[in-house]
This record gives sequence, C-alpha cells and structure tokens, in this order.
Amino acid sequence: MIRVGVIGFGYWGPNFVRVLRGLPDCEVIGIVDARAEALQAAGSMYPGIDLFRGLDGLLDAGVDAVVVATPASTHFEIAGRLLDAGIDVLVEKPLALSVEDGIALAEKAEAKRRVLMVGHLLEYHPGLMRFREMVRGGELGDLYYLYTTRVNLGKVRAAESALWDLAPHDVSTIRFLTDAVPLHVSAQGGSYLRPGLPDVVFATITFEGGVVANVHVSWLDPHKVRRVTLVGNRRMAVFDDMEPVEKIRIIDKGIDTTEHYESFQDAIAERIGDIRIPPVPIGEPLKVEAQHFLECVRDRTKPRTDAQNGIRVLSVLEAMDASMRSRGATVGIRAHP
Ligand SMILES: NC(=O)c1ccc[n+]([C@@H]2O[C@H](COP(=O)([O-])OP(=O)(O)OC[C@H]3O[C@@H](n4cnc5c(N)ncnc54)[C@H](O)[C@@H]3O)[C@@H](O)[C@H]2O)c1
Repeated sequence: MIRVGVIGFGYWGPNFVRVLRGLPDCEVIGIVDARAEALQAAGSMYPGIDLFRGLDGLLDAGVDAVVVATPASTHFEIAGRLLDAGIDVLVEKPLALSVEDGIALAEKAEAKRRVLMVGHLLEYHPGLMRFREMVRGGELGDLYYLYTTRVNLGKVRAAESALWDLAPHDVSTIRFLTDAVPLHVSAQGGSYLRPGLPDVVFATITFEGGVVANVHVSWLDPHKVRRVTLVGNRRMAVFDDMEPVEKIRIIDKGIDTTEHYESFQDAIAERIGDIRIPPVPIGEPLKVEAQHFLECVRDRTKPRTDAQNGIRVLSVLEAMDASMRSRGATVGIRAHP
C-alpha cells in the first residue's frame, strides 16, 4: 500500500485527492495546505485524512509519495524538500519557473533515486493519446504546421503570467504530438490587468526541418477554447477538447499542386474530401496520470513525463518569456540532453 500525501487543497488539489482515493494499492494519508479554510474544506470532505498546515507534519506521518498541487512559484522549494526527505514526487505543471531550477530538481531526484514526475496532464489524455497515434502514424502526411489555442475568461493567477500557467500544456502537447526539435521562438504578450504579468501570449516556435507552431494562450478572452490544429501535406486534423465526444476530426482537405501547367489556376487544385470523426477512448486524464505515478513509485520506473520532459518544456517557456521581454525578438532554445 503506497502512503500518499497531497500538498495544496485549492482548486486543483481536491481533484487529485478524489482520483487517488479511487485507485487501488494507495491510501491518501495526509493533506497539507497553508490556509486554514482549505484544511477546513478538506476536513469536512474527508474526515479520515490527517490535515497539516506545513510539510513537516506530513513527513512525520510517514509518507511514501506526494503530489504537489500548490502555485508554480512554490514547486521548486516544496519538491526539493520532499526529494531531500527521500519521497517520490509528482509536481504539477510547470515543474519549476526556470530551467536552472528544473535541472537542480532532476539532479536531486537522480542522486536520491526518487521518482520525479511532472503533471503534464494532456500527455495522459486518452483522446490526445489516440490523436497522437494517428498523427505519428502518418494520417496527415508530412506535417507543415500546427497551432494551439487555450483561452478562457480566468482563472487569473496571483504570481505567474498566462504563459507560465497555461502554455506548459501546449508546449508539452506539441512535443507529444510531433517530437520535432524546437530551435527558436518569437513571442509577444499583453499585460492588461497587472503590469509585467502578460494575460495573453502569441508565441511562434520554429522546429528543425521547418515545421512551425503557434501557441495562443489567454485568461482574458470571451471564448473558452482548448484546441490543437495540424496541417499536413495529405490531410488536416483538429483535436478539440471542448467537444464532449467528437474530439478528433481528420479532414481530407488540401491544396494539390502540379509542376506542369499553362495557367496558375491549373496548377492549384483545392481538394475537399470527407471529414472523419474517429471514436475516442473514454477515461479521465487525471486518473490515468495518477495511476501512472503510482505504477512508477511501485515499480521504480521513470515516468513518461519525467524531469527531462519537464525541463524541455521549461526551456521553451523560458525562451518565450525572454522573447516577450524583448518585444518579439527571436530567441534560441537551449538544448538539454
Ligand atoms: N493540470 C491541470 O489541468 C491543472 C489545472 C489547474 C491547476 N493546475 C496546477 O495545479 C497547481 C495548483 O493550482 P490551483 O489552481 O489549485 O491553485 P490554487 O491557488 O487554487 O490552490 C493552491 C493551494 O496551495 C496552497 N498553498 C500555497 N502555498 C503553499 C505552501 N507553501 N504549502 C502548502 N500549501 C500552499 C494555497 O493555500 C492553495 O489552497 C498549479 O501548479 C497549477 O498550475 C493544473
């Protein structure tokens, strides 16, 4: 039986407690939160779970693995303390707020032989996993470009920008779908609610081989959109997570060109074929993610979204941040083995 603790019982932490309690071979033994109201809420929902204001109480209670669902600015310190204490850790996205801190955590986990996983939730989404098989299986032909849209009204974060809050999902999704090596980025943002903390970001990543990806995130938008669009030379595809059932669309559209032609119009032919909506496997992504974490803890294996995966995402986010600060200048992405 794996003894698990959850740190952070705000918006997201309760979801972890719920899914972990539904999984076999694990027991949620403690919840930590710095706020008394959060612990009060936890106590009335789960009277059998011990509650702590700080980390020490949870460590004293004897815990094997911990989920960190606190604000991103606290991830480095909390995850570091847990690893030092010899605990396996699943830290919510982003792993940390800099590549340097991400590397330090990875090294600590390595030295202590502990599991360090980052909660890149979409890599555990059964629908996106199916979509990935189709994209990587060649359904679209060669990939030309892709773009992601993650916009909504709220939730505005106290300390991080929309880039660090929302874009980890998109950057991890893009890498999950293509595995292309990102070379450089150019990003522009707008800070309307508070100076220095962008609420909206438009970022473009260029990959080895010429594939281009655009990432649009915002918490100041009239629409709620969670969508990835890919355009290949054979087909196009959309993953729309706001669709309750029909999340994947494979669209047989394209522009065919010929080399020998008399007029330009003869050379360009629009191809408008069928739209296919394949069935998507059912399953709660957070449950799949939590299950994977417990398997890694039990079997002493590396998670799919391990620290290296987290650092690769941080290196893109860091470059986007630097580009925004220099008003869209192209910034190279550091490669991390
Ligand atoms: N994967 C997803 O889809 C998803 C969705 C939402 C949030 N998240 C992530 O989950 C994390 C938490 O987000 P949230 O929306 O729940 O934030 P939140 O602000 O609603 O809750 C955070 C909680 O952590 C507590 N806290 C803060 N510092 C603490 C400390 N040092 N020790 C103990 N408790 C502390 C706060 O009191 C609060 O209750 C963030 O990293 C966020 O990026 C992920």
